[in-house]
Amino acid sequence: MSIENDLSLIQDYDKNYCLQVFNLLPVAFTKGKGCYLYDTEGRKYLDMIGGIAVNCLGYAHPKLTSAICSQAKNIIHACNYYYIPQKSELAYRLCRASFADKVFFCNSGAEANEAAIKLARSYFYYKDLNKYEIITATMSFHGRTMGTVAATGQEKFQMPFAPNLPGFVYVPYNDIDAMIKAVTPKTAAIMLELIQGESGVHPADLEYIQAIKKLCVEKGILLIFDEVQTGVGRTGKMFCYQNYGVQPDIMTLAKGLGGGVPIGAMLTTNAIATGMKPGDHGSTFGGNPLACAAGNAVLETIEEDNIIDNVREVSEELFDKLGKLRAKYNCIRSVRGKGLLIGIEFDDTITAQGMREQLFSMGILVSAIGKSTIRLAPPLIITKAQANQFIKALDKILKNVQGPKNVFDKLKDAIPSKKQIKEKASSVNNAKIDKLDQLGLTAEKEKALTDGKDIDIIDNDD
Ligand SMILES: Cc1ncc(COP(=O)(O)O)c(C=O)c1O
Repeated sequence: MSIENDLSLIQDYDKNYCLQVFNLLPVAFTKGKGCYLYDTEGRKYLDMIGGIAVNCLGYAHPKLTSAICSQAKNIIHACNYYYIPQKSELAYRLCRASFADKVFFCNSGAEANEAAIKLARSYFYYKDLNKYEIITATMSFHGRTMGTVAATGQEKFQMPFAPNLPGFVYVPYNDIDAMIKAVTPKTAAIMLELIQGESGVHPADLEYIQAIKKLCVEKGILLIFDEVQTGVGRTGKMFCYQNYGVQPDIMTLAKGLGGGVPIGAMLTTNAIATGMKPGDHGSTFGGNPLACAAGNAVLETIEEDNIIDNVREVSEELFDKLGKLRAKYNCIRSVRGKGLLIGIEFDDTITAQGMREQLFSMGILVSAIGKSTIRLAPPLIITKAQANQFIKALDKILKNVQGPKNVFDKLKDAIPSKKQIKEKASSVNNAKIDKLDQLGLTAEKEKALTDGKDIDIIDNDD
């Protein structure tokens, strides 16, 4: 039996047999090529969200597909009792490309962050130091396991699963004073995203990250960057920390690393790696040959095909065109992000869900974050022409919804504000009162003053 091409049957099965934790759009994709997806009806979509920053090489990329297929023909899983050549090679590639000396592999972003949290604590445990607190930012997102839910600085993800895991402290993002105040002798680590992706694409300020690094060095605190979403070329550098010139002690990756095959990784230095001994941590599937073969193909392709240059070029085009749309339409409040991780925030006239649905109806996929922001995280191989296809669609929607800004501005200019009317009325009134005085029309003057009303401001004298 195959239900693959029957959307209503797929929906039925999902409703009846899958835990209902997602708000699904009424579509199922059966095929992809490059930056395009095809649904059960054969309809084509431009993917501007890339499986939420995962499908960095798009769909059915020949190098990735062939690496996965040939690996599957040999061996998919052995286990961590034995050496795994694909794992050793991927660890080497990651260390060569980053600050790190050692890598631990797992299967997702949350697991990579769990490993980071555990390492930060065990590092001090083995040093006989009572340091276990981890400071994270409000509005952060670090995953859905109990540890990473506790690390996530948003109550809505924690409430149903209370009690929260202890030992986490939350401070406002981009606020160095709050961070300094939150540090105690028990602080083991500061854990941050360099761009808060899930809460609206908010980048960290350069000075903030530099000041945090200084604080960590001074106080002997470990610095953890969660690069699950920003890593592997997404922001125009291999890793986002390279945009800041600040190295962490621990970094986590997932999403783009396998190009769609589940994999996570925690990277650290030799010094910090002493905090984990054999048996302290592990994962049945982590580092398996299939996922690591995918990871190797992704990293090799990014390097060989100069994909990071493409990220920078297309990003520049998108920010330029989005800036122009912002100048044209009042309703775009801000455009934020770096590389190909971009948030577009609208004012109250447009909801993120509404915009996502309109784009969807035009065959373009984005994600909606909160009430007012849509997020773009397209495959890193996207072309300028494809980026402009999105820009044109957005322009068309905004034209229909709001009309260009200059029409509004002209209207605004033509209609004086309340304050202007009052000022104008009182100056006209004063002039008129003077005139009434001159003419000796005292009764009319008294009436105007007691009524407190404007005296006919359409006056020929004006
Ligand atoms: C910054 C960040 N960390 C962690 C995670 C969790 O990753 P996963 O869903 O693979 O567990 C995400 C997922 O969106 C993320 O964006």
